[in-house]
Amino acid sequence: MPHFIDIADFSREALLDMLAEAKRRKAARAGLPKGAADADAPLAGRMLVMIFEKPSTRTRVSFDVAMRQLGGQTLVLNAGDMQLGRGETIEDTARVLGRMADAVMARVHGHDKITALADFAGIPVINGLTDLSHPCQIMADLQTLEEHKGQLQGLTIAWVGDCANVTRSWIEAAALLGMQLRIGAPKGYQPEDDVLAWAREKGGDIIVVEDAEEAVRGADCVMTDTWISMHHGEEEKERRITDLMPYQVTPELMARAKPDAIFMHCLPAHRGEEVAAEVIDGPASVVFDEAENRIHAQKAVLLHCFGLPG
Ligand code: CP
Ligand code: NVA
Repeated sequence: MPHFIDIADFSREALLDMLAEAKRRKAARAGLPKGAADADAPLAGRMLVMIFEKPSTRTRVSFDVAMRQLGGQTLVLNAGDMQLGRGETIEDTARVLGRMADAVMARVHGHDKITALADFAGIPVINGLTDLSHPCQIMADLQTLEEHKGQLQGLTIAWVGDCANVTRSWIEAAALLGMQLRIGAPKGYQPEDDVLAWAREKGGDIIVVEDAEEAVRGADCVMTDTWISMHHGEEEKERRITDLMPYQVTPELMARAKPDAIFMHCLPAHRGEEVAAEVIDGPASVVFDEAENRIHAQKAVLLHCFGLPG
């Protein structure tokens, strides 16, 4: 069953094929209104059910728009409105959805829920973010990076601040696609050992340091994410902001990167916390290309899941 659970489940070739498809589809619909379907409408007659246990703007809208542009249909459900929220098991939920839809995209807390959905639904399942990983975001990030830098292999990417779900998926992508990833984060906010070990075993060039400037020096792209992810408790907020303030992406920090370095952020962003307004709203920022590319990249993910590679 062609699921989309983690970047690490794919080969370099499979990832590059999906990115090429995303690029082709973006180019093919230049100038079309967002509500117009792609010329081939390859997912006509297919139904995607989406489940959200956590809030979302980009993932929700991009999958909905992508599916419609591909000619398919969608149903968006908040988990709290489902029997899932009252204790129905994920396994039974999966089996029921498997009888009613052609694919499921879910944003859930525990990663085990997405793997259970995949194990029991009998239809393709897409990870729309878990506490552990966010692979769909990385497909859009890779597309954006390639658009601005012309290539992926050989690039130096700096990640500063907290290391959470987006970072994990980025480590996997960097290792598979031959990019150097330099992570600058304080102890306690660095990536888990298991993903670093996996990446190094794949030959990945992943460097973890405590100093933000060291991580950013000479980088082609500087990235960060919120310091308070959806799985962090409100009570952690003050401590996290204090601990991570030296890792804010400021104009001074950006000046350590290459002169033509870009700034990326999966959004939502918090100006004055992980990034200064002058950076995210400045000329190096490509965050809205990144957001738009969620649509194009998600199309490639959907086509993979429906067994319709480009
Ligand atoms: N980047 C991202 O996944 O955004 P949403 O939480 O709005 O879906
Ligand atoms: N790390 C963030 C990503 C949001 C898209 C979170 O999990 O809240």
